[in-house]
Formats: sequence, structure tokens, C-alpha cells
Amino acid sequence: MKGLILSGGRGTRLRPITFTSAKQLVPVANRPVLFYGIQAMADAGIEEIGIIIAPETGDEIRETTGDGSQFGVRITYIVQDEPAGLAHAVLTAEPFLGTDPFVMYLGDNLLQGGITELVRDFKANTPDALILLTPVPDPEHYGVAELHDGRVTRLQEKPPEPKTDLALVGVYMFTAEIHDAARAIAPSPRGELEITDAIQWLVDQDRRVEPHVVLGWWKDTGRLEDMLEANRLVLDTIERRVDGDLTDSTVDGRVIVEEGATLTRSTVRGPAIIGAGARLVDAYVGPYSAIGAGCVIERAEVEHSILLENSSVRDLDARVESSLLGRDVTIGRSLGQPRAYRFLVGDSSDIGIA
Ligand code: TTP
Repeated sequence: MKGLILSGGRGTRLRPITFTSAKQLVPVANRPVLFYGIQAMADAGIEEIGIIIAPETGDEIRETTGDGSQFGVRITYIVQDEPAGLAHAVLTAEPFLGTDPFVMYLGDNLLQGGITELVRDFKANTPDALILLTPVPDPEHYGVAELHDGRVTRLQEKPPEPKTDLALVGVYMFTAEIHDAARAIAPSPRGELEITDAIQWLVDQDRRVEPHVVLGWWKDTGRLEDMLEANRLVLDTIERRVDGDLTDSTVDGRVIVEEGATLTRSTVRGPAIIGAGARLVDAYVGPYSAIGAGCVIERAEVEHSILLENSSVRDLDARVESSLLGRDVTIGRSLGQPRAYRFLVGDSSDIGIA
């Protein structure tokens, strides 16, 4: 069985981060979200993984992820020329996948509990496809499934009036028949080859498409609030480890302070992670914060936020909260007159000042 991870796409909902970087590399608890999917596959015994990448962000994904040896797997990168849909990504990967069955995992998704059991189920029951479902309060925003007698009977992409609350989770198991399905369907009104349409084609051909309702949490990190929630969920599972240097500082609860981080007259309240080489001076870092490597927080407070590498926050009166800062961002107080806000801000940035 092979693995296919989709890490192309446009990532419009996470702009401006995605103007310069792949959303699948945004860290959750200081680890790129993509790495959780690769790890889940490795844990399930999958050794051959294809990763779909976009021409714009693919190189960065290649450089960060490498040949897979850090996970004990072999990674093949597959460039998808345009983000023409999930079923288009499957077709693009056909030369890599061949006739093997495979697990498809959306590279910006996180699934608690991994996929080991699902892979086992799939191998044991040999359906033509197995889809993961979870009840959600707002099914109109997802692919939605209807079931009958333990089989999937209908799938709709973001239906205005959903018939059930069962949303498709971003993990699927397929046999090679999905390639015929992807070839048979036409682009949707939004111009994409939809995986829901391809699976519906299998259903219409009387193929056995089985549902599996997920009991643990599942998170699609496509938007800022989802990213913060994923960060919360993962930080909730960490164990305390303090390898950095503390001077007149307090670290409460489940906190990871990586090697080379320095805390001076600062307080960190977990769950939180402080990356390697980060520097906190007269700072407070509150629960559900992931502070990237090399970040600096001085005379400032940060809570429930994600800071990517080498960003700094200095001399702020109010706490930074529910925020996502990209790499090398600096937020600070400018000295001198006039007392005014000064910004150098990229397209689609979002700044809130109380
Ligand atoms: P989405 O989040 O549905 O799409 P997107 O990345 O274009 O984001 P947005 O809606 O914010 O513009 O994609 C789910 C995952 O699949 C994500 O990791 C990107 C990946 N993907 C591909 O690899 N190829 C594609 O053609 C598409 C549409 C998505």
C-alpha cells in the first residue's frame, strides 16, 4: 500500500502566509503540519509516499521534508502544474501510484489517533474505497455523505442544504479504480475535479464505498482559527521538558523549552512550546502558544498564538492573542514623535488594534 499526501493547492484562506510559504509547512506545536501526516503514514507501516506539490511552494516543501529518511519512509515529489482539484491531484500521481491501493491524506489536515487502524480495516475488508466521516455542526462547508445500510450512497461537495451532518475528513483509502473515476468525471462549477464526484462515480458503478466515522478529533488547518485550534489540540498532548536556560523565570505546567532557548525574568504557562534559541526577557507566554525557533519576546505578553521562526514582539502595552505571525516578523514600539503606528505590512495581512 502506498501513501499520497496532497500539499499543493492555493491556500488562499491563509494569506498572507501562503504568499511566501506553503500552508502545509505552517507549524503546529513547532512542527510543520505536513509532518503529522507523514508520521501517521509511517506509523501505519506505509513506506512509499508520494507528495503532491505546487510549482510555487514545492521547493520549500522538498527542502524541509527531504527524502523521508527522518521518518523512515521514501518520499517521491510529484508536481501538480495547477491546483485543479483533489481528483486531478490523484490523476497527476497515477504514474507513481500505478495499480497499488493507497491512502490519500490532505497535507493540511490533522487526525488524532492516526490511520493505523483504518489501514488495517481497509486491508481486511477490501472495499473499493473507504472514506472517513465526522459529524460537524456546519456540514454546508464540507463534502457531505449520505449512508444506507452501512454503505455510502451519496456524496455532495458543500451542499447548501445538507441531508446529514457527516463531513468528509481529509483522509481516504482507494484502490486503483479511483483513477478511472477521476478520468470519468467533469470539472465542478468551481472548475475543479472533485474527489467527492470521483467517489460518487464509484458509488454509481455499484462499487463498495465504505464509511468510517472518526471518533477522535480531526482538524483541517486551512484557516487561521483552525490552525490555532490544531495548535491547541496538539499542545494539549505534550509532556513537560525544559532543556533551555532559565534565569529568575517560572515555567508552569506542560511546557517544552527547547535547547538553547533563554528565559530571563519571564513566565511561561503551559501548554506551550518555546523553540530552540528563542529569547524571552521580562515576558509572559500564556497557554496554547507555540513560539518558533529564534523568536524574541521582550517586555511583552503572548498567548494562544503561533509565532514562526525568528519573529520578535517587543514593548507592547497589550497582550498579543489569537495571532499567527509569519517568519522574521517584527512588532515593536517605535520611539520618538509623532506617537503613531508605523507599518510595513504585506498584502492580505490582518491587524487588530484595541
Ligand atoms: P484545500 O484546502 O481544499 O484547497 P487550497 O489549498 O487551494 O486552499 P484554499 O481553499 O484556502 O485556497 O486543499 C486541501 C489540501 O489539498 C491542501 O493541502 C492543498 C491540497 N491540494 C492539492 O494538492 N491540489 C489541489 O489541486 C487542491 C485543490 C488542493
